[in-house]
Amino acid sequence: MKGKFIVLEGPDRCGKSTQAKLLYNYLISRGYEAVLTREPGGTPTAERIRQMVLEPGVDVRPMAELFLYEASRAQHTQEKILPALEAGKVVICERYTMSTCAYQGYGRGIDLTTIETLNKIATLGLQPDLTLVFLMSDKYFTERGEYLFSDRLEQEDQSFRQKMRLGYKEMVARTPGAYLLDADRNIEEIQKQVEDLLEKHGIVEANAVC
Ligand code: TMP
Repeated sequence: MKGKFIVLEGPDRCGKSTQAKLLYNYLISRGYEAVLTREPGGTPTAERIRQMVLEPGVDVRPMAELFLYEASRAQHTQEKILPALEAGKVVICERYTMSTCAYQGYGRGIDLTTIETLNKIATLGLQPDLTLVFLMSDKYFTERGEYLFSDRLEQEDQSFRQKMRLGYKEMVARTPGAYLLDADRNIEEIQKQVEDLLEKHGIVEANAVC
């Protein structure tokens, strides 16, 4: 694949949307062609699935939830991510396969091997070049969410979030090109670490020192 695929992951309200936008602007300012996208969603069809799966109060059983996320992913990967990578662009995606393992696997208890098989089918085997997982302490989740609307998944309780957090740590430990970032720090510090990791992985060239 000519392009590069970067995924930003983590529990809700960890600040990944802010970092995704900063990263997109950084890449554009450095002259790279970049695409910023998200899961669930990212294309008109996948955004319709997103509405269905996240609407509060809707009865969606765990297995149906899993398939909705995978359906969104199959559409998104084939319609948007793969063509952009083939055209040599840098794709920044908020959430991807690791979210399904964290939420539906570690969180809901669906067998991880089943999820990994579905992930492979939905993505045609496409894996990120770099996965950045933002983890913050639980008190920030509550503080940051005080005035926010909560979708169906954000309404899950603290024990669900703990299982997910553990899941993210375990997955980072066994996934090449995946990093844990401390999301309790300030935005600028995190942004700097993200940019350094892009350099380290050869996704951007090192800044020339004058
Ligand atoms: P977002 O608000 O960060 O865009 O994510 C939407 C919600 O969907 C978030 O609570 C995480 C959840 N989610 C899953 O449960 N499984 C998945 O596979 C994905 C992509 C997201």
